[in-house]
Amino acid sequence: MKLNIALLKGDGIGPEIVDSAVRVLNKIGEKFGHEFVFTPYLIGGAAIDATGEPLPKETVEGCLASDSVLLGAVGGPKWDTLPGNKRPEKALLGIRSAMELYTNLRPARLYPALKDDCPLRPDIVEKGFDILIVRELTGGIYFGDRGYRDGKYGEEAYDTECYSRLEIERICRAAFEAAMVRNKRVISIDKANVLETSRLWRKTIHEMASEYPEVTVTDMLVDNAAMQLVRNPSQFDVIVTTNMFGDILSDEASQITGSIGMLPSASLGATKRGLYEPIHGSAPDIAGQNKANPIATILSAAMMLRYAFALEAEALAIENAVDKVLEAGLRTADIAHGADALGTVEMTDAILAALA
Ligand code: IPM
Ligand code: MG
Repeated sequence: MKLNIALLKGDGIGPEIVDSAVRVLNKIGEKFGHEFVFTPYLIGGAAIDATGEPLPKETVEGCLASDSVLLGAVGGPKWDTLPGNKRPEKALLGIRSAMELYTNLRPARLYPALKDDCPLRPDIVEKGFDILIVRELTGGIYFGDRGYRDGKYGEEAYDTECYSRLEIERICRAAFEAAMVRNKRVISIDKANVLETSRLWRKTIHEMASEYPEVTVTDMLVDNAAMQLVRNPSQFDVIVTTNMFGDILSDEASQITGSIGMLPSASLGATKRGLYEPIHGSAPDIAGQNKANPIATILSAAMMLRYAFALEAEALAIENAVDKVLEAGLRTADIAHGADALGTVEMTDAILAALA
């Protein structure tokens, strides 16, 4: 297959980790007979510096014309004082929205090799865990009406959470479909004791449940979910939730896997194209120092092969190579506990060697 991939390297460690994933994809191309053609586009702070805009039009057009998109990370202290609509993060929301990527899949599993990195007591994670967070990505408070106004106490700012039935249905459908090929359990996370949007969410998902009789749907309030994730993570299979709750809970889930440097994500919409990115940020403190863990981005590339191109064997080859290097005890600094750590390039070399 010949596949055109748009690269959005972004800021901070973004370029280093995307370069690692490109090396891995090229190796897969050689091994399985595919040709990947990579075209870089500007996004985030790098785009602001070059063009004045965090998400130039050419970037959006390039992504929409590609077969799939691989993204590093955006943001950094240099751009932190810019107004909200000029910040690098705005580009991330902009590209998700422009590509209509309403489904964000964030798998969080405990690697047996990394179980000592898990901050939870061994008896709590004895059974391991394998959670798929299905986060709504183009709606809710991230995209609702916002602004400043004169309020009861003078100047106030507001953001609004709004969900249509259609938006709830399509994200819940993604969760049901994911559950059908996993353990057939969906936990829907909301704040229905307070929020109207959550009550519509609950009503909608239960109405849909009859279409998936094999799947068990349970509701959980978000505050309780935050607690349950550290109390008993193995109770979760598929989690489906709103944009903001998913943002927060996926960071929590990543931490109990040992390191946020390990977690990939896929953002999908109506087309197969999708956008693939690590869930971590641009880590400006270690940028350009060959210290970043490239695994989350490499695993994001594996998700791309699986979801965008239906190349399951190729995706598995990458995932197995990552398992192999971890089993062999190889670590980047985030998971090395002060012991000898490999740099970004050396970890990538090791994964390439494991693929050979
Ligand atoms: C994420 C990030 C983004 C989000 C930020 C950088 C806008 O935290 O992808 O989880 O909140 O969606
Ligand atoms: Mg986040």
